[in-house]
Amino acid sequence: MPPTRSNHEPTPRLATERLLLREWRAEDREPFAAMNGDPRVMEHFPSVLTPAESNALIDRIVERWRSDGLGQWAVERVADGAFLGFTGLAYASWAPEAMPVEVGWRFAVDAWGHGYATEAARAAVRWGFDVFGFAEIASWTSVTNVRSQAVMERIGMTRDPADDFDHPSIPEGHRLRRHVLYRLRRPESDPAAG
Ligand SMILES: CC(C)(COP(=O)(O)OP(=O)(O)OC[C@H]1O[C@@H](n2cnc3c(N)ncnc32)[C@H](O)[C@@H]1OP(=O)(O)O)[C@@H](O)C(=O)NCCC(=O)NCCS
Repeated sequence: MPPTRSNHEPTPRLATERLLLREWRAEDREPFAAMNGDPRVMEHFPSVLTPAESNALIDRIVERWRSDGLGQWAVERVADGAFLGFTGLAYASWAPEAMPVEVGWRFAVDAWGHGYATEAARAAVRWGFDVFGFAEIASWTSVTNVRSQAVMERIGMTRDPADDFDHPSIPEGHRLRRHVLYRLRRPESDPAAG
């Protein structure tokens, strides 16, 4: 059994140098739908999302915070309060039980190229290790998604090509079917830190 936080605990907030990872708010729905409807953002997914699908995704994320005690945070830029996208942890519904919890991210194109995804991901995995006590966190994406793989590498994840797999939800022959899997182990605790 994976570790859990108790149900109905509020979404925790994580502050980084430039970002606030926080609970979802009603005003996030519009920029979230714009992001999910942008073909550049969704290039490595089977399709863009309609506004209704985007709203349903927020609803699912909020529900998972309640049921699993973890999920995707809304990511806000502290300097101007702008909604940039999401980052967080999730159990894969399609994956074999042995699959570690996944860290993932999605940002609006205007927020690319600033290191925000890497900054948010570092905070999310630290929280997963320190608060949840996961021994390992993974991330996976299509072979085509090199920007996402670069985030995985920047946060110290490593890929064993033997872990590459065909995503079971994507039909055979589809350009997105082949996936890479990156893993990160919980750092050994620093004895000097007591
Ligand atoms: C995946 C995704 C989040 C990566 O975004 P990104 O902007 O490339 O990644 P980061 O936020 O870590 O930014 C890194 C870039 O910012 C630059 N950068 C600028 N200022 C920086 C700073 N202060 N710190 C770190 N990097 C900085 C880096 O040099 C790097 O640039 P490069 O791409 O030219 O090498 C983004 O492409 C995305 O949302 N894609 C669509 C959704 C998606 O595919 N999600 C993953 C599904 S598995």
